Amino acid sequence: MEPAGIPEPLVRVVGLTMAFGGELVQRDLDFEIRRDEVFAIVGASGCGKSTLLRHLIGLQEPAAGRVLYGEHDLHRADEETLASLRRRFGVMFQAGALWSSMTVGENIMLPLRLFTAQPLALRERLARWKLALVGLEGAFDLEPAELSGGMRKRAAIARALALDPELLYLDEPSSGLDPFSAARLDGLILNLRRNLGTTVVMVSHSMDSVFAVADRVLYLDHVEKTMTALGAPRVLAETGPERVRAFLHRRSQP
Ligand SMILES: Nc1ncnc2c1ncn2[C@@H]1O[C@H](COP(=O)(O)OP(=O)(O)OP(=O)(O)O)[C@@H](O)[C@H]1O
Ligand SMILES: [Mg+2]
Repeated sequence: MEPAGIPEPLVRVVGLTMAFGGELVQRDLDFEIRRDEVFAIVGASGCGKSTLLRHLIGLQEPAAGRVLYGEHDLHRADEETLASLRRRFGVMFQAGALWSSMTVGENIMLPLRLFTAQPLALRERLARWKLALVGLEGAFDLEPAELSGGMRKRAAIARALALDPELLYLDEPSSGLDPFSAARLDGLILNLRRNLGTTVVMVSHSMDSVFAVADRVLYLDHVEKTMTALGAPRVLAETGPERVRAFLHRRSQP
């Protein structure tokens, strides 16, 4: 039995090694994602952050190690289990693209159409609600091209939220945004956690964002090719290994 007050983690990563062909990306990753936390993944460009996200959502096979959702090994699960596990998380990829041939509303409704048997009227109501959650209540009938960069990111988050995931994976949600829009996105992430209880795993190169929203930060070192720090951003900025401290102190430029 679990001791009281220590909830079962949502995801456990055990001895994960990631490679492309013979090319090692990261090795021996061991960490847990806790329920209700905002968990940031940081490190130099090319260190393997997006690759790690792809492993966490089952799009890429580990060279070694496991990704566990409760009892289930994501990469060994049968089709049915995999489908039900995938329903539990929403994803916003680094490119974050919306389908340009559909309106914003149709983009948000797409996962509902693909994965539920809900009638159109209900799908539309839910999509409008998700858009309202991210502050885009007026955008339902717009084309993606009519949105600003920040609005497009928020619409992509609304789409990732379509199926009410307990876990949201975001790859660089604030990249390319002005500081005001980036701060607004930080506020949105905190609201999702507070109001919906969504656990958020976020790749970010914005240290402003990491310090504003992350409970814990995982540092993937590009030289050692493994994780060299995991902890609260403020603690690591003071007491982490030297490269981690330097990285965390490098606040982003607008
Ligand atoms: N499809 C692929 N085939 C081969 N190598 C790849 C592929 N995708 C990524 N890589 C390599 O894997 C390493 C990690 O890439 P990844 O995209 O995960 O980095 P990242 O930390 O997300 O970088 P960034 O901050 O620039 O987004 C890089 O060396 C990259 O060149
Ligand atoms: Mg990336």
